[in-house]
Amino acid sequence: MNVRFLVLVSIVLLLLLSGTCAVGGNVYVRCIEKERLSLLSLKQGFIDRYGNLSSWGYGENQKECCNWTGVHCDSLTGHVVGLDLSFCELEGPLPDFSQLLSLQRLYLDHNQLNGTLDDSIGLLSSLTELSIKHNSLEGVISENHFLRLSQLFVLDFSFNHFIFQISPDWVPPFRLAYILLASCKLGPDFPMWLQTQTSCVDLDISSAEISGTIPSWFWNLPFKLLNISHNQFTGEIPDFQFSYAFHMDFSSNLFEGSIPSTLSYIKITLYLSNNKFTDASSILCPKMTTLLHVLDLSNNQLFGTLPDCWTHFESLVVLNVANNSLFGKLPTSMGSLRNLQALHLGYNRFTGELPSFLNGCTELTTFDIVQNNFSGSIPSWIGSEFQKLRVLILRSNMFSGTLPSTICHLFQVQILDLSVNNISGSLPKCLNHLSALANRTNSDATIIYYLPFSIYDRDSIFVVDIASLIWKGRESKYQNILGLVKSIDVSRNMLTGEIPSELMDLVGLVSLNISANMISGQIPTAIGQLKSLDFLDLSRNHLFGRIPSELSQIDRLSVMNLSYNNLSGEIPIGTQLQSFDPSAYVGNVGLCGAPLPKCPKKPTQDNQDDGNSKDDEQFFNQGFYISLSLGFSTGFSGVCSLLILNKSWRYAYFKLMNDAYDKVYVVVAINMAKLRRWNARFST
Ligand SMILES: *[C@@H]1O[C@H](CO)[C@@H](O)[C@H](O)[C@H]1NC(C)=O
Ligand SMILES: *[C@@H]1O[C@H](CO)[C@@H](O)[C@H](O)[C@H]1NC(C)=O
Ligand SMILES: *[C@@H]1O[C@H](CO)[C@@H](O)[C@H](O)[C@H]1NC(C)=O
Ligand SMILES: *[C@@H]1O[C@H](CO)[C@@H](O)[C@H](O)[C@H]1NC(C)=O
Repeated sequence: MNVRFLVLVSIVLLLLLSGTCAVGGNVYVRCIEKERLSLLSLKQGFIDRYGNLSSWGYGENQKECCNWTGVHCDSLTGHVVGLDLSFCELEGPLPDFSQLLSLQRLYLDHNQLNGTLDDSIGLLSSLTELSIKHNSLEGVISENHFLRLSQLFVLDFSFNHFIFQISPDWVPPFRLAYILLASCKLGPDFPMWLQTQTSCVDLDISSAEISGTIPSWFWNLPFKLLNISHNQFTGEIPDFQFSYAFHMDFSSNLFEGSIPSTLSYIKITLYLSNNKFTDASSILCPKMTTLLHVLDLSNNQLFGTLPDCWTHFESLVVLNVANNSLFGKLPTSMGSLRNLQALHLGYNRFTGELPSFLNGCTELTTFDIVQNNFSGSIPSWIGSEFQKLRVLILRSNMFSGTLPSTICHLFQVQILDLSVNNISGSLPKCLNHLSALANRTNSDATIIYYLPFSIYDRDSIFVVDIASLIWKGRESKYQNILGLVKSIDVSRNMLTGEIPSELMDLVGLVSLNISANMISGQIPTAIGQLKSLDFLDLSRNHLFGRIPSELSQIDRLSVMNLSYNNLSGEIPIGTQLQSFDPSAYVGNVGLCGAPLPKCPKKPTQDNQDDGNSKDDEQFFNQGFYISLSLGFSTGFSGVCSLLILNKSWRYAYFKLMNDAYDKVYVVVAINMAKLRRWNARFST
């Protein structure tokens, strides 16, 4: 298990993928015949399987090319100045655009274009915006591709397979504002031509295979958005004025040393996870209040205690310091994080009781402190104050005492993981009040936090959470389906008493693990109600009596473990219970029947039973495999979240309004095509 708890968070914009294969143009403009013919020959270059370019044609009524899908003409000259063929499901190689010399904006995003990019594109000297992201284009990009592009302003080649081979002393003809080259191979050396791009507000060179240190001039560029994640950058991040920035992503590199306090000037999101930073004390004690909403410091080598400066972080919505070497008690000022929705403190060495000042964090949706040294009893205010909790993970700490009955007030909780502690007493009978678990309807697949910003007054910026769970005996990370998981895990504690029959009202439960306690009594027959269960682990307790045949009514069950109890009698025959491995039943001295050895003979029925159970076993095996495939996928890779992130902030256009409260207004355009149309709508 190498990657266990990576965390968090990608920012996604709603409406993100809404198509832009739209009708454009101006009815009153007359198309220039020569350009019409050029467009038609372009069309022949594309494979247009779905007829999205059907308006482009030779017909009498198709003379006005300015009305064709995706074509924009200048209203005065009639020249074709814009082509927006994004999301048009076009395939095949890129045709030659060099006949359309008046072209200013070319958008071919999100198609399935392949082959190389001809360097004749470098002759389109009027081009201001060039975006071909999310295609399957490949080959070498050289200086010639940009030869005459002196007007270029937006360059988006992201998510193709380009290899940039550009001389370190190339002086580009352009000064770009948006440089989006995610997943293009730019490295291993740093792209020195960026030094001339002194107007660049949005740079994405994530996953670009660049290594080494970052030259100092780089930090002078006026970035509002910066993504240099998933490279092999080394060295320290300098103490620089980052006060223009809204979003910076340094994650998954080899940065080290201390994190400069000036990064706290960033206004919305800061990702520093998966590096080798050792000291965060200065960013965690900024001189003034920050406007950071998301701070991700997870998976570093941060050492020390958390400073008591959280009053400066009142905007924080997501805080992740998981998987570092932090220790000591939680500082009192954390109680002032009143907007906090996700707190990830796992895989550190924090100690002490859960401090009552945390009850000020009433917005918490996720509280994850897995694997620390927290002790004391589970405070009763968790249930009464954290009313919005959906994920509560206290696994692998040293909590003791009994479970407070207020735990039953967590009406929205979906993941309740109290495992590997020293909790005693019995399971409260009121557990059936956990209404999210008592409900079979699914909530949203992801757990997301909305940031208080909007785009065009409609779309929100939000963050998608990740947590790691033990699933079928393995620790895996969940993001895309985290919101669908409904589980209770109280395994490896000191719980006594019986399994309360009220627990059987939690019909939404997908997993139930009470393994390794001292639970006694019988398995309630009502267990058959838990029809959503995918796995059930009751092993290593003191359960006795027969296995209720109702257990076989849970046809989704793919992992079951009843081992090491004191169960007896025959395993209900002719059911899927035979399809489990014998190890699911071992350690129960009195248990017999398939898949365990036969029970002592009952002479009259013997032959008949044998026959039946064979047929049924086959039948149920089938069902068993079907239910397996319905099970949850594991091992979600962080790459997907990166892609979402990259897409979402594309061409973001930010405006800082310095009103009395220095409030930040963010306007994010999904792409320039939309922004353009939006502008057009407002200027006419
Ligand atoms: C913690 O981070 C290290 C890298 O810094 C990584 O190798 C390890 O898998 C992480 N552990 C968890 C539990 O995520
Ligand atoms: C667990 O709690 C019991 C009392 O409930 C105590 O005697 C025991 O020492 C605790 N064990 C650990 C490992 O903390
Ligand atoms: C249940 O919890 C125990 C102890 O925490 C763990 O070892 C086991 O793998 C879990 N069962 C399943 C099926 O995940
Ligand atoms: C197992 O259950 C039987 C009754 O079914 C009881 O007599 C016996 O003491 C139990 N054994 C243990 C180890 O709990």
